[in-house]
Formats: sequence, structure tokens, C-alpha cells
Amino acid sequence: MSEKEKIPNIVINPPGPKSEEWHNRASAHMKGYSSQVKQFPVVFESGRGNILYDVDGNSYIDFSAGIYCTSTGHCHPKIVEKTREYVGKLMNCHDFTTPIKAMFMEKLAEHLPGDLSGIQLFNGGSEAVEAAIRAVRTVKDGKYEVFSFWGDWHGKTTQSMSLSSLGNYYFGPRFTGSHLSATPNCYRCPLKQQYPECKLICMDVLEGTIDKEGTGMQAAVCMEPIQGYSGSVVYKDEIMPRVKQICEKRGMFLVDDEVLAGFGRTGKMFCCEYYDVVPDIIVFGKGVAGGFPISGFAIKKEYDWALEKMSASTTYGGNPMACAAGYATLQVFEEENILENVNKVGKFIMDKLSKMKQSHKIIGDVRGKGLLLAIDLVKDISTKEPFTEAGKFVYENAFSKGVAWIPAGNILRLAPALIMTEELADKALDIIDESITEAEKKFGYF
Ligand SMILES: Cc1ncc(COP(=O)(O)O)c(C=O)c1O
Repeated sequence: MSEKEKIPNIVINPPGPKSEEWHNRASAHMKGYSSQVKQFPVVFESGRGNILYDVDGNSYIDFSAGIYCTSTGHCHPKIVEKTREYVGKLMNCHDFTTPIKAMFMEKLAEHLPGDLSGIQLFNGGSEAVEAAIRAVRTVKDGKYEVFSFWGDWHGKTTQSMSLSSLGNYYFGPRFTGSHLSATPNCYRCPLKQQYPECKLICMDVLEGTIDKEGTGMQAAVCMEPIQGYSGSVVYKDEIMPRVKQICEKRGMFLVDDEVLAGFGRTGKMFCCEYYDVVPDIIVFGKGVAGGFPISGFAIKKEYDWALEKMSASTTYGGNPMACAAGYATLQVFEEENILENVNKVGKFIMDKLSKMKQSHKIIGDVRGKGLLLAIDLVKDISTKEPFTEAGKFVYENAFSKGVAWIPAGNILRLAPALIMTEELADKALDIIDESITEAEKKFGYF
């Protein structure tokens, strides 16, 4: 972003004519766009830092970071340089060791919690979750029953999907041994309880689900420390330690899926650090390499023998370009005080969101940690009935004014890059605030 550049800058009503032309060409082949794209089919040309540029010359404040993955902003020069070096040097040599892979994993291990140090590398989050479950089965001698929470999102491969609330009729039954339990979502408690009077009865339900649905093959609980896809659902501080206890009591593993919440997004390197929990396995992806595809999981040192029984080999997993991008990203984290910025700007945004909540009738909740945030729109603050029509309107309205972000029905997800500035965040929030006011007018709230 140059000094004088006006951001956001909407020069033509988006999606403009060039976007339309490119989108039509792509749509002739690409089928099954997400509702996010269907709602706002803009076509992006490039990105720099916190800014996205479309093909019609509009610029947007990026409040989505790809989808939580361009952690250090678009095209961070140090990451581009390091990745470029390997694009011109060595693109693939299967799972042979390369110096950059060794360097990346050493750096990774420095940042992982506890003694998690046995690592396998893959390309996307689903693949890494799937591999983590293979590791569970290997350590637990073939036990295969895994438990997660309603509303979780672990991916689109068979078992990761089976542990998620995907809700697609066509995808058939869950993989055998996949069970979901009531989510500890205190804003919309599925058990209709109130915290703290509930004494976290949801944890009793989890124990019941494990004991009554399990058949002696219980192996692990796989959870998101904060539910991302379901709208930045932050749990009470007691939840993760309780889940860990529940697992330990039964000789089960806790698999902490930090594909979305990990790598600094919440203001700590990994979200489990907030709760003093060291999981048996942690899964990472998305922001690890500043947007370049790489993922993986790490297991406690005492169990790393199990990984010798399950080859890490995949075609692209841990390729030199991805390792270079990951290594450079971790260097940027260290050199540019990324976590400090997440906490500073995260607090700034949360303070402003809390003020917005006071002045709007349709904001039921604002929540999050660090830069993993959400606004929950409701028809009535007391009934908390989801206001999906308003969610759609506000998403599209704010996007057309220059905020590129992520909708989820009535919940609007805010996930800027970890280098977001207060100045740009302030502008984006003003646009969002204005769009919510317009929604209130449109739907007759004043
Ligand atoms: C917590 C979590 N786990 C796993 C995944 C799957 O990752 P991918 O889409 O890279 O396969 C996602 C994706 O959104 C996620 O949020």
C-alpha cells in the first residue's frame, strides 16, 4: 500500500463488468462455488498485505485472509523471496529430506506446545486431520471411535467430514465410530442451560456420549478449541481442561484441531495455550505458511514411535516450496512481533464491536479471541433467533463498500491477516457498522 493510496477504494460498483466477464468464463467449468462467492461473485486480481484488488480496479480491506490462511498478509516480501528461491531450486523430491524441511520442522517444534515433536506434513487441513486420526488408531492399537462436538468443522475427507456438522444429505452416513456430542456453546446452549448454574452439564453429556455410544473402542476426542466455521464460538476456560481430563480418565487421546485457530490467530501461537492444555496431538494448517498450502500434525514425543508404523509419504506433503514458505512465515512471526499485533489489534476490534453491540438492536453477540472474531445477528436479543436475511444483507452491503469478509448465515466472521492495523480495522468496522444500520432500516427496526 503506497502512502497516498486510498483504501478501500471502490471505483466501480462491484462486482463490476470485468468481474462478471471472468466469473462467467470460470463458471462455465467451475461448479459448486461456496455461498460466499455466489452471494458476491467478485474476481480478485492481486493482494498486498491487508489489501485485495479486484479486476475492475476496486480495492478492499481484507477481513478474511483468504480463508484464515494469509496470516502474514498477502505476498509478504520475505515469504515470497524464500518461496521463490525454492521454486527455482527444487520443487519436489517426494519425502526425501531437504535442508529446508529439516529447518522448517526444527522451527515448528520450537513453537509447538509441550513436547509435541513427532511431525508429519501434508497439504490441507482435512488431510492432516485424517492422518492425525490414523495416528490415534496406531497408538491405540486399532481403536477407532472418535468423538467431536455439534457444529465442529474438521474437513471434507471421509472421517474429517464424519466428525463435522456438514449436514449434506448426499454425502451419506458418517464413518463408523464417529460420534458428535452437544457443543459447549454458552450463547446458544443446545441443552437450554445457563452458565454457571449449569455446572457445565454439557461435559456430563460428552461423558455419556463416550460411554454409552462407545463400544469399547473409544480412542479420542477431536475438537476445535474455538469453533471457527460455526462462527468463532469461544468456549468457557474450563472446557478444554475438562475434555482433556475426560480423555485421560478413559485412556483416550485429545486431538486439538488448530487448523483454523492455530498459528497466532487467537493471540497465542496455539489456542490450547490459553487453557494450559497440552493435547496428545495437535493439527495445523491454514496460516502456517502465510497462505502457501501446507498442513500437518504433531504428536507427543512419547508416542512418536507410532508414526514409524504409518508412512508420512504423500505426493506433495512437505515439498521444498511449502517448507520454505512455512520457514519464512515462522521467521516473520519471530522478527515482526506478530502475536503482539494480534493482541493489540484484536483488543481494538473487540472494544469497538462491544460498543457497536450497545447501539444496535440486531447484534445479539460479538465474540472471539485475538483476530478470530464474529458478529452474531439476531431478530430479537432476548430470543436470539438467528437473523439470516440480515446476515446476507450486511455481508453484501459491506463488501460492496470495500470490506472483503466471510459470511456464515446470520453470523459474520471477521478474520483479518495477523498484520492488520488499527487504522484499517477502524475503517472496516465503520463500514460494517453502517451496513448494520442499513439492515436495521431495511428490516424495520427504526
Ligand atoms: C478446524 C478446521 N479443521 C480442518 C479444516 C479443513 O481444512 P482444509 O479445508 O484445508 O482441508 C478446516 C477448514 O476450514 C478447519 O477450519
